[in-house]
Amino acid sequence: MRGWMRNFRSLIFFGALTLILSGCGVDNISALKPEGYGSELIFDLMMISIAIMLFVFVIVMAIYTFVLIRYRRKKGQEDFIPKQTEGNKALEIIWTVIPIILLLVLAVPTVQATFDLADKSGQSNEDALTIEVTGNQYWWHFNYADQEIATSQDLYIPTGERVYLDMKSSDVIHSFWVPSIAGKMDTNPGENVNTMYLEAFEEGVYWGQCAELCGPSHSLMDFKVIAVSPEEFEQWKEDMQNIDPEAQPETASAQEGQELFQNNCMSCHAIGNAAAGVGPNLSNFGNRTMIAGILDPTKENLVDWITNPHEIKPGNQMPANLVSEEEASKIADYLLQLDHSEITPESAGGSNNEGSNE
Ligand code: CUA
Repeated sequence: MRGWMRNFRSLIFFGALTLILSGCGVDNISALKPEGYGSELIFDLMMISIAIMLFVFVIVMAIYTFVLIRYRRKKGQEDFIPKQTEGNKALEIIWTVIPIILLLVLAVPTVQATFDLADKSGQSNEDALTIEVTGNQYWWHFNYADQEIATSQDLYIPTGERVYLDMKSSDVIHSFWVPSIAGKMDTNPGENVNTMYLEAFEEGVYWGQCAELCGPSHSLMDFKVIAVSPEEFEQWKEDMQNIDPEAQPETASAQEGQELFQNNCMSCHAIGNAAAGVGPNLSNFGNRTMIAGILDPTKENLVDWITNPHEIKPGNQMPANLVSEEEASKIADYLLQLDHSEITPESAGGSNNEGSNE
């Protein structure tokens, strides 16, 4: 009896917790608020299947309740055995045909959506924007090969256009997922290149997450998709293409930081259009929504990150204690002024660290 009570209590507890937690979350990382072509397609499929399930549930419960009431044992009829029926052609046809119809209603749009989501026509179309995505423990690299632009963590795309992605991984399997504008796709190590596309309806900062357990900091492998108007995107491309990696910062501290950065960090990181090495490309670091994908973009956080990366993201590749805290502060001054593009997350209508698309 006690064990039963305990089970019942934990069932109530976890049931309530599920209900309460389902209210948590942020709009722009929700598959239930589709803001893009792929996510809308998936959302519609989900709605069709829920409608079918509800339909079946209601009918079955109605029949069940009716039978329970109508045919229950009545007083004075304890030994009564009702007429036994074996086989009923009409009924059997009905309960075979209805599920077939329901399965068809579900299958046709599902197969249609599956082919629609597999569109990779952009990969063979020179006019389409194709971006190479590389998953790394625990950050994302984006290479706009045709535009000679390389960036990490914040992926800028134009709205109202299909942007095609060629995806791979440099180490283990990751999964690229931006719930509010598209489905998800694994990135695999080796030669295998997976493809998908993004098509955002509205401007906004959409949150992305790695969705494949890839090591101790898997849950911290965040990124952002920043959808801006086509005009703003053109401007962004131009700004990014014109970044001068050697440009001298204004303040003395940032100038010292630049030198420290070049001596200590450049063997892994890159500024400008060079492909990233072991670490992310930091060309537009000052415009980033987050530091390391997860920290608010303040100088304090950046110094913490440079000096103690393993406390923040366990298992990541950045060496700790490479520079002193004083040096880290100068490097931070240098990195935070790398905001060469006028197009920022704010251009997409999102505040820098909230990333709201409302
Ligand atoms: Cu990368 Cu999980």
